[in-house]
Amino acid sequence: AIDRKVDALLKQMTLQEKVGQLHQLAGAEATGPQAAKRASQMSEIKAGNVGSVLNIKGAKETREAQALALQSRLKIPLLFGLDVIHGYKTVFPVPIGEAASWDLEAIEQSAQVAAREAASAGIHWTFAPMVDIGRDPRWGRVMEGAGEDTYLGSKIAAARVRGFQGAKLGATDRVMATAKHFAAYGAAVAGRDYNAVDMSLQQLHEVYLPPFKASVDAGVATFMNSFNTLNGVPATGSAFLQRDILKGAWKYKGFVVSDWASVKEMVVHGYAKDLSDAAVKAINAGSDMDMEGEAFIAHLAQAVKDGKVPQKNVDDAVRRILRKKFEMGLFDDPYRFSDAQREQAVLADPQHRAIARDVARKSLVLLKNNRNILPLAKNAKSIAVIGPLADSRRDMEGGWVVSDVRGEVVSIVDGIRNHAQGAQISHAAACTPGCATADGFDAAIAAASKADVIVLAIGETWDMSGEAKSRTDIGLPGRQTELCQRLKATGKPVVAVLFAGRPMIFNEIADNADAILYAWFPGSEGGNAVADVLFGDYNPSGKLPATFPRNLGQIPISYAQYNTGRPVTDEKDIVYRSAYIDSPNTPRYAFGHGKSYTTFGYSGVQLDRTILRPGQSATLSFDLENKGKVAGTEIAQLYIRDMVASVVRPVKELKGFTKVHLQPGERRRVTFTIDRDTLAFFNSDLKWGAEPGEFKLMVGSASDDIRAETTLHLQ
Ligand code: IFM
Repeated sequence: AIDRKVDALLKQMTLQEKVGQLHQLAGAEATGPQAAKRASQMSEIKAGNVGSVLNIKGAKETREAQALALQSRLKIPLLFGLDVIHGYKTVFPVPIGEAASWDLEAIEQSAQVAAREAASAGIHWTFAPMVDIGRDPRWGRVMEGAGEDTYLGSKIAAARVRGFQGAKLGATDRVMATAKHFAAYGAAVAGRDYNAVDMSLQQLHEVYLPPFKASVDAGVATFMNSFNTLNGVPATGSAFLQRDILKGAWKYKGFVVSDWASVKEMVVHGYAKDLSDAAVKAINAGSDMDMEGEAFIAHLAQAVKDGKVPQKNVDDAVRRILRKKFEMGLFDDPYRFSDAQREQAVLADPQHRAIARDVARKSLVLLKNNRNILPLAKNAKSIAVIGPLADSRRDMEGGWVVSDVRGEVVSIVDGIRNHAQGAQISHAAACTPGCATADGFDAAIAAASKADVIVLAIGETWDMSGEAKSRTDIGLPGRQTELCQRLKATGKPVVAVLFAGRPMIFNEIADNADAILYAWFPGSEGGNAVADVLFGDYNPSGKLPATFPRNLGQIPISYAQYNTGRPVTDEKDIVYRSAYIDSPNTPRYAFGHGKSYTTFGYSGVQLDRTILRPGQSATLSFDLENKGKVAGTEIAQLYIRDMVASVVRPVKELKGFTKVHLQPGERRRVTFTIDRDTLAFFNSDLKWGAEPGEFKLMVGSASDDIRAETTLHLQ
């Protein structure tokens, strides 16, 4: 029925009105220097020359803009888009932090809350999730993804899409999602944002595309293409990506929005000779909407008249966009998302904070806990909370904060004070964020010397990761390492809480701190969540979704490496091997690693069949036991290795995980199902399929902590 309505509307549209639907403008500020631009944007909306607006928000403001669209000849409503990446008003952990929870329900719920808040503020559409695989921590945008792994990334992509959109588009407490950035944006050479990408089809299909395909399967409403070139062609102008794969092989029915000015940037790339050529190349390649568009609105109509763009390409793009407007119910009621009363009530919902705290504590990863220094005793007498991030609210939130209420963010000092009310808590920043000088060190050391334990809050500042935030040095900024060393010299135990949007390199801290909790940027409830873990109200369960290298020279690094003819080894007396002579080859912390306040035993591994015939599946099962004295949650992981194949396979590939909560002494049978799909890969004929032969199956607590393995033969 919607298709009929779309066709009927399309028939009434002039070419100019069609092009207007493909034009997305970035809302200018209503006051100040942008006021004149704003006025002209409003008249463009009224003239029917705009299909969507990004970066305006709030029930009142969106309602006003929508009212203008309804004055256009055909009264086609606008779509309002915004980067609601990890929360709207209630800020959740940055996406890589959420990924460390490996908790699909929690991640879905986080997206659902973000959607509910954003939708109440008139937003129809978020530019999330970012489903780019990131294997280079120099790239600032690893913060926005789910880490390095394609299996985990695909599961999380689908969970986020479900959370944002719900079961069916159109509910006023959900928004349309966007799978971005299509494609391979995370593989920018040397981790420098926007840089070129050159990769084999094997890598592309096997590692970088599956999270996008998972998003399609989860019903994602839109795609965003990317700034990078892929093997020489800008993604925005890539028919291979957008027409052959996305709209062809995957039969995708949603629409593709360009990234910000990425159509225009094809001229700068040296791929289009001018703006008009860029518009032609983008639409013909399958880009449907021009974000911050100057190319489509200025040149598409003429390009159609000149025969450079087939009319059917424009019609197809318009159809895709109109279909989403119908599905969102905007033709029935264009204002249904812009309701000031609902906005007020939803944004004040205290439940959202409780959910944010729960997700945040699940995202924390305990990397070290010498002599069980953690959890801290609740009746601790004195705690020194030291470090430039100890009382920083902004740094709890991370990047992409679209509507924050900073005063409501809980800092680490706040969180600790909330928990240890009887204790004497001293606080000293020691240096400003960035820690360029050591001016405050002496005062901090003096305060720390009087305490029983030191909690040291250090890391990157919020603005050091994210878009255009690539770093060549991913160590702790400024003199924070020195600060840790001086605190350690006091002889007091040091618990380091590290904040970052990426895996960092912090060997001195790893060697010297007594405990390390990796907190990412944990969001509005960050201080409470961290304190929940520090004081044992929550037993940490997060696991790293990305490998933490020892040094920059190891990058790019992933547990899912391919074998060589001279496999990597740290045995020094084997000379002609694939290894470094000046560094261990293992990472500092492996993918999947994360400690708990208890320990887990794996035993009794069984495979119900050792030969897998067509149509069959196998079940791998084992007992998981909590061997410690406190309840805890383990994320048990399944890895496989295809021993011989038509193309060399990675030494390990994650193919399953499960999160199990166990009381002390409790034991539970855990199962993983393995079928042909589990064993499939992109083979030498460039097709998905599993090849007969031997597969090693491994279960364990981390990619470098395999507890049992067995063999399956595929027939
Ligand atoms: O959604 C973002 C994208 O990830 C990077 N460029 C700008 C877009 C809109 O803000």
